Amino acid sequence: CGIVGYIGNQDCKEILLKGLEKLEYRGYDSAGIALLNHDGVHVFKEKGRIADLRSIVDEEIHGEIGIGHTRWATHGKPSKMNAHPHQSTSGRFTIVHNGVIENYEHLKQQFLQNVSLKSDTDTEVIVQMIEHFVAEGMDVQTAFRETLKRLKGSYALALLDKENDKVIYVAKNKSPLLVGIGSGFNVIASDAMAMLQVTKQFLELMDQETVVVTKEWVEIFNLDGEKIERAPFTAQLDASDIEKGTYPHYMLKEIEEQPFVIRKIIQQYQDEDGNVTIDPSIVSEFNQADRLYIVAAGTSYHAGLVGKQYFEKLAQIPTEVHLASEFVYNIPLLSKKPLFIFISQSGETADSRAALVEVKKLGYKSVTITNVPDSTLSREADYTLLLHAGPEIAVASTKAYTAQIAVLAIVADVLRKSKGIEKDIDLAHELAIVANAMEEICDSKDEFETIASDYLSFARNAFFIGRTLDYAVCLEGALKLKEISYIQAEGFAGGELKHGPIALIEDGTPVIALATQENVNLNIRGNVKEVVARDAYSCIISMEGLEMSGDRFILPAVHELLTPLISVVPLQYISYYAALHRGCDVDKPRNLAKSVTVE
Ligand code: G6P
Repeated sequence: CGIVGYIGNQDCKEILLKGLEKLEYRGYDSAGIALLNHDGVHVFKEKGRIADLRSIVDEEIHGEIGIGHTRWATHGKPSKMNAHPHQSTSGRFTIVHNGVIENYEHLKQQFLQNVSLKSDTDTEVIVQMIEHFVAEGMDVQTAFRETLKRLKGSYALALLDKENDKVIYVAKNKSPLLVGIGSGFNVIASDAMAMLQVTKQFLELMDQETVVVTKEWVEIFNLDGEKIERAPFTAQLDASDIEKGTYPHYMLKEIEEQPFVIRKIIQQYQDEDGNVTIDPSIVSEFNQADRLYIVAAGTSYHAGLVGKQYFEKLAQIPTEVHLASEFVYNIPLLSKKPLFIFISQSGETADSRAALVEVKKLGYKSVTITNVPDSTLSREADYTLLLHAGPEIAVASTKAYTAQIAVLAIVADVLRKSKGIEKDIDLAHELAIVANAMEEICDSKDEFETIASDYLSFARNAFFIGRTLDYAVCLEGALKLKEISYIQAEGFAGGELKHGPIALIEDGTPVIALATQENVNLNIRGNVKEVVARDAYSCIISMEGLEMSGDRFILPAVHELLTPLISVVPLQYISYYAALHRGCDVDKPRNLAKSVTVE
């Protein structure tokens, strides 16, 4: 979910709606705004997208103070009733909330036995508790703090009080939230992107802080009511970075930005002699480790699987890759000197953050690889390596995946050199070849559109098969396709087909095979024969030098370790076009959100 707020001298409807549109990547199953003016609070909410909300907001109603929310449902299904903002019974207090309150049932029992709740959400409990404490005689700020002290879980909150149109009360714990500073107005947002339209100056908030926001000033407090001083920072984002430009979809734009991102990464991680380099203190941290633990979710986890190969093959450091959501509840037996690497495009994924919290409790060091400077994971880990991929807006991750792999390759290669391990590879040069190859592949996008319509227009399911590094890419290819086209897609290791998955092959089942690895080229082709013998419809994507007759697409040659950077590009395009042909909403697939800030 994402939240916004505005307090100033202007009618803020449009600022809130535009802000929410920029936050739609965080969830888009329902949305709402509340405007406060001299005749009270006006709440508009609707199931669906911000566009649906827009259509019901009353043009005639103005407000110079307001809050808004776009939702990714956790407690209570997506509906108008469960959409935020939520109000207390008397209508005095109105709240928006991003996060999950774990003990809300308990709080309901303890404080709200006599209150009849209007929604199924954990959020309504917060606003009702504030009203409850105010009824007991507390002032609003105290009631707000007393409520927060009893909440277990995550929240970014904004609260309006109908009886005071001079202030928005704000609080944060584990969910991201920023206060934007303007002249004559102030704003709040889950992400700076939402408010770049009005300011570039933002105040970072820490967990368990509350803020009183008025149009002239902003004051931060801890939960004991002590005041905290903090200077604002300037967001390094341009409003134009987050526009689609001439592209029909963000996903297409982001796929095609990949060659530039790789070049940017080379530039950012290069020394004067043109060699790849990273901060020496990070190198020394890695060199003290006897084992690396990569922790991530979704696409970032898939990048981690490739990263493991780099750390082991280039730098000879044993590496494990863990799903963040599993790691927290099932910590593996750790080595004597583990080092943790968190990979996260957004730097906000709650599962990964929860794992980082555990790792810190155990006293271990961590490095975050992220696209978002100052994100939660970046702030909380000991070190950060940035992806420099520019904002990624489409829910399905593309350029962040390749950026993650490129940065992982750089780190592994720097470690290799620091350990004196000889290998004939000039990584900066090889990555430059990758960038050119990506460009060439992007020039062939019409071919991928044809493949998508040939293979996937009417498919119920699809399989991606590969071996070694290609297998890791197949997992990502399958995830892309299922995320945006809703075709049931799975990635399999070629050799495993015969141990089960081949039972699924029927006449015409699409099987996309990657063949970019010389040592398993014949094996994967053998696997393709096995599925073709069962009437599968196969499509082989191979690489120059390894091609054979009948291959559907031949990738330009790149270093054998770097093939994931280019072999994923056709799979991204194929998913994109398959989703488009099936009439799916490419950038905002159902049930998903880009940044999942709940566990
Ligand atoms: C969400 C997104 C995925 C993403 C995953 C991890 O589920 O829909 O595309 O891969 O989160 O996100 P992160 O920001 O941590 O890389």
